[in-house]
Amino acid sequence: MSRPDQTYRRIDHPIPPLYDKDSRILILGSFPSVKSREAAFFYGHPRNRFWEVVSGLLSQPLPVTVEEKKAFLHQEHIALWDSIKSCDIIGSSDSSIRNVEANDLSVILETAGIRQIFCNGAKSHEYYDRYIRPVTGMPAVKLPSTSPANAAFSSERLMREWKQILKPLKAAHPATGKVLLGWYDYNARILPWRSDPTPYHVWISEIMLQQTRVEAVIPYYERWMEALPDIESLAMVPEDRLLKLWEGLGYYNRARNLKKAAVTVMEDYGGELPTDYTELLKLSGIGEYTAGAVASIAFGLPEPAVDGNALRVFARLLGEDGEITGTAVKKSLTAEIRRVLPKDRPGDFNQAIMDLGSAVCLPTGRPDCPSCPFEADCQARRLGQETVLPVRKKKKDRRIEKKTVFVIELAGEEGRQTGYVLHRRPDRGLLPDLWEFPGVRGHLSTEEAGDLAGQWGLEDFCVTALGEARHIFTHVEWQMKGYLVKTGKVPEDLCRDQSWIIVSGKAVRDQYAVPSAFEYYKKQVIE
Ligand code: ADE
Repeated sequence: MSRPDQTYRRIDHPIPPLYDKDSRILILGSFPSVKSREAAFFYGHPRNRFWEVVSGLLSQPLPVTVEEKKAFLHQEHIALWDSIKSCDIIGSSDSSIRNVEANDLSVILETAGIRQIFCNGAKSHEYYDRYIRPVTGMPAVKLPSTSPANAAFSSERLMREWKQILKPLKAAHPATGKVLLGWYDYNARILPWRSDPTPYHVWISEIMLQQTRVEAVIPYYERWMEALPDIESLAMVPEDRLLKLWEGLGYYNRARNLKKAAVTVMEDYGGELPTDYTELLKLSGIGEYTAGAVASIAFGLPEPAVDGNALRVFARLLGEDGEITGTAVKKSLTAEIRRVLPKDRPGDFNQAIMDLGSAVCLPTGRPDCPSCPFEADCQARRLGQETVLPVRKKKKDRRIEKKTVFVIELAGEEGRQTGYVLHRRPDRGLLPDLWEFPGVRGHLSTEEAGDLAGQWGLEDFCVTALGEARHIFTHVEWQMKGYLVKTGKVPEDLCRDQSWIIVSGKAVRDQYAVPSAFEYYKKQVIE
């Protein structure tokens, strides 16, 4: 066997730094080993555990070729270089290094927003502190060396120490999915759509759950499933019945889209929801969140379901302080959720985030951190920012609209009521095509209300004030004032264009979809 070459050589660093403008951390070794110099890339010795440790922490496949390694580093926002530019060295021996000239990091630091510099091993850190820190002014974190010379350190121990790189990368720890599922196994809510998570059940529940609390959705969901137990019945339901089943959930276009999608499923997909994320996305009313929820919960596909809950939980966990609705922040949090999504239980994982978000990691008020499985790891908690994160744009003030609402009751013989006037709203704008009590903009006095009733041609009427009500939409707030107008006659031409109709009190309640914005005035209707 030939003895290794024991002579000193002066060597200039042969590998250029790897970085780009999106690099978030810089990891510095000391100087490339013989193997790395031969491979012309960092950490080339087969027993150097750098690639194993870093890809393991980032839940990524082990990169093998130089091309894969470069792509991995760019994807994960990691810059690599070494502390030493040139030195005298025997072979790969760190301890033999002398006559060091240090690298100039300025090109990396000026290009990328490096949040933290790490040194791979004590030697690198020693040279960094001695020659480079005085120039950069940035402290570097010393990590145990991944080199074969440090074989005494177990891989588990290396991983434990190297975990520190995740924080400035804002990357989720690989155990996140397992921890969350462990919590879910004991804390999952029992909900009607979970007991039999067919694609149809999951789809309907997810659409209903957008913007509405779980407790409020349950009775709607149960009533819906009795009336429309499958996709076929949904595809065939008349619009008025559909909207009546939806009444009170708001955002009526969601119900219309459900029916539209059901028709497509019957016509183009043989009556079954497609088992493919991209195909699901093509259906009316199914966006990324719903496609992810249906794909993962109903079909077991590894897709994240990212809604406000998921963004909040992960923003706190990772200490993400960018504006939460910003595209870049959403994209990077979604990538983190995808990173830790367990392939064997994606639906449970997505639902676990929902349950954690609604019971523990609350959107308003103080979250219940002591009950959270991530209490020890959560960056928001560590920094005392659990009520500060996520950062949200200040909401625009809602536009106030004043309205006067008329409950027009048509009195029959001997003063008995025979019906109420309903008006169909226009087919565009807020609450399109739904039924309402007739109304006008602005707040009218009793006298003005009487004048208007006269202009409409009502006869023998009497006007009584019904009080005020408010309804808050996403961008508008209605401030309503109401009048009960009891009348002996509604002129026929008022109802000629079909947008004004007279229907029984029972029909107002049971048949026509009158949005909950009018709930207060609906209570005045007698059956
Ligand atoms: N919110 C949205 N989807 C949900 C689900 N499947 N379970 C509980 N809460 C939810």
